[in-house]
Amino acid sequence: MTGVVRGGARPPSPPRRAGGTAKAWQGRLQGRTAAGLEAYTHSLTQDRAYQLDDLQGSRAHAQMLRAIGVLAAAELRAIEQGLERIRSELAEDRFPFAAADEDIHMAVERRLTELVGTPAAKLHTGRSRNDQVALDLRLHARRGQVDLAQRVVAVQVVLLHRAREHRRTLLPGYTHLQRAQPTTLAHHLLAYVEMLQRDVERLLDAHRRTDVSPLGAGALGATTLPIDREAVARRLGFAQITANSLDAVADRDFLLETVAACVLCSGHCSRLAEEMVIWSTSEFGFVELPDAWATGSSLMPQKKNPDVFELLRARAGRVLGDLVACGTVVKGLPLSYNRDLQEVTPPYLDALTVTGSGLEMLREVLAAVRFVPERMREAAADPQLLATDVAEHLVRKGVPFREAHAIVGRAVRAALHRGVTLAELDLASWQRLHPAAEADLLDLFDPEGALRRRELPGGPGPRTVGRALQRADLLVRRNARQLELLRGRLPDR
Ligand code: ARG
Repeated sequence: MTGVVRGGARPPSPPRRAGGTAKAWQGRLQGRTAAGLEAYTHSLTQDRAYQLDDLQGSRAHAQMLRAIGVLAAAELRAIEQGLERIRSELAEDRFPFAAADEDIHMAVERRLTELVGTPAAKLHTGRSRNDQVALDLRLHARRGQVDLAQRVVAVQVVLLHRAREHRRTLLPGYTHLQRAQPTTLAHHLLAYVEMLQRDVERLLDAHRRTDVSPLGAGALGATTLPIDREAVARRLGFAQITANSLDAVADRDFLLETVAACVLCSGHCSRLAEEMVIWSTSEFGFVELPDAWATGSSLMPQKKNPDVFELLRARAGRVLGDLVACGTVVKGLPLSYNRDLQEVTPPYLDALTVTGSGLEMLREVLAAVRFVPERMREAAADPQLLATDVAEHLVRKGVPFREAHAIVGRAVRAALHRGVTLAELDLASWQRLHPAAEADLLDLFDPEGALRRRELPGGPGPRTVGRALQRADLLVRRNARQLELLRGRLPDR
């Protein structure tokens, strides 16, 4: 058989190139560049992710150039109108890209020249593509972080909602995937709310360091022209300006921090996804996927598969790969700008997209799954889950814990040997194991009672979980408010 198996999807092909076209950066270079160079070095495909940020940056830069007298009022007007026209062309996907457009910066400048003529030639005054791309990426990341954090919060909201529904739903807690001690579904879901809370905080923290304007760093050594960096930063809503021009053009930490936050966040999603995969098996039966969110088998008619959760589980690996890619590019790079930095952008964009779509999916599926409390309760009713409680009961009677641990271990063995549960051992048997055992020991084998015994802060006791639900509610509301505020501060593009 031939031609049956082909590789994966073809990567998007670069824009068609005539090859060897003249360049705005020609400078000292003579003759034409090789067509192969253009195809190999261009970044237009990835640049389109921040094309509107690029225009916004150019507008702010032009307005500053007007304020310091580099542009006349009419020139600024022409540039602004040209940029506006380009904005709609790009947004509506009818921007006429040309063969010589190596990146979005050159494409916009070339098109602006076509549209408004001479004033366009002044736009790049006091600016380099090195600080320009740093600016674009910071504008993009600033919004991306807020977007992503809002998606995280949306998942927190669903988790909290489901936790409220299952405040009293008994669940066996696991370690090593072996039944360990009783807990509730609410306590379990709230654990994920906490993980996601750290993700929100990490994104906000990265946001703080992203919110710094690099414009004015030039290629690496600022400019001899009296540009007003603060004015541009203010216009673009940045909290500060960068303090060192070399660092400003060489820094991609803000992208790596964002990707690192994505690694942890998608990792959390993958852990939850894994539990949903396990819980939806016939062996567990703790959760049932609605048909709308399940997949079938092309061969086995009875199958109901959790592909969504499996992909969620797998894609965390892809995001981790993105971080490795980013980290490998920047490690060992000399100051300041190096073209290598262009290679940080695609994995950054990928991490953001993959993590964002995973969160979106999780939000929808978590709202739709049916938890099966009967199955959970059945599993949580296993008296062995209360072995620790018996040991601690003996501790209360003065038995040293290590000794109590050994006694209950012997009791578990005896029960297994006799083919009964731990709860079915009579008082005489317990007293043979230790004289401190009293009748109240037999009352321990009630999972609800076991929860009530666990009212320590952070524990699964019903009152504690009630407070935890309130705390989670406050956290989520605070997140939502804070993110709304941050989003409001980002200028419209
Ligand atoms: N495409 C480049 C990047 O993403 C833009 C900056 C290019 N600068 C340069 N000097 N070639 O990093």
